[in-house]
Amino acid sequence: MASTRPFFCGNWKLFGSVAESVALATGVRDAVAGVSGAEVAVAPGFVALLPVIEKLRGSAIGVAAQNCHFEPKGAFTGEVSPGQLADAGCKYVIVGHSERRQLFGETDAGVARKTRAVLAAGLAPIVCVGETLAQRDANQTLQVVGTQLEAAVLELGEAELLRVVIAYEPVWAIGTGRNATPDQAREVHGYIRGRLAEKLGPRAKGLRILYGGSVKPDNVAGLLAQEDIDGALVGGASLTVDSFATIVKEGTRA
Ligand code: 13P
Repeated sequence: MASTRPFFCGNWKLFGSVAESVALATGVRDAVAGVSGAEVAVAPGFVALLPVIEKLRGSAIGVAAQNCHFEPKGAFTGEVSPGQLADAGCKYVIVGHSERRQLFGETDAGVARKTRAVLAAGLAPIVCVGETLAQRDANQTLQVVGTQLEAAVLELGEAELLRVVIAYEPVWAIGTGRNATPDQAREVHGYIRGRLAEKLGPRAKGLRILYGGSVKPDNVAGLLAQEDIDGALVGGASLTVDSFATIVKEGTRA
């Protein structure tokens, strides 16, 4: 059982035209309108953010960006600042996704800077952590996740830390169709909660710790039934209205 109101975020990655993104957002909005007790967000590509935000205005669906720069402004051609994302109407920014760490060279130090920048702009960071298959096989999962947490969030002040969302996304489960079992996920989520509790005590229960990695309509209930799994960050299965809305509904019921 999730310890807090479950949170489901669709990460659309590099998919969809503006028109397709607006249509998907509209479909999700209508399909989950009757679901109470869950928080829902979508993360379109940059060019679709503003039209999606305008379409969702007045609804309960939040909009997340998938990345940002850590500086508020300056000569940084091609970058987008957290302040610009706040100005556009975003509520969240996904920070340190494993695809950014693996394909674009993001480091723990860079993820930490982005996390602070997102908080400074008044937005909530969704900070991603997770181990590779080689690290899991070498029994390094908790150590790797611990190091990522220490770098990105555990040095934050309490008020800031309370605004963070954590996403545990084992790299080997992303886009592979191979999700972590509920037991595997529960172990890591419990560890993350424990590390947060070292800083926050019982208030650590209020932070959302999402699971991500091949979440589908047929496995979300088993995951969300676990004590410290408070929601899901969903990639491929968030790209159609039916599957994402089913994930929200099944996950909220769990
Ligand atoms: P999939 O759900 O496609 O495995 O992607 C997970 C993910 O990376 C969400 O951020």
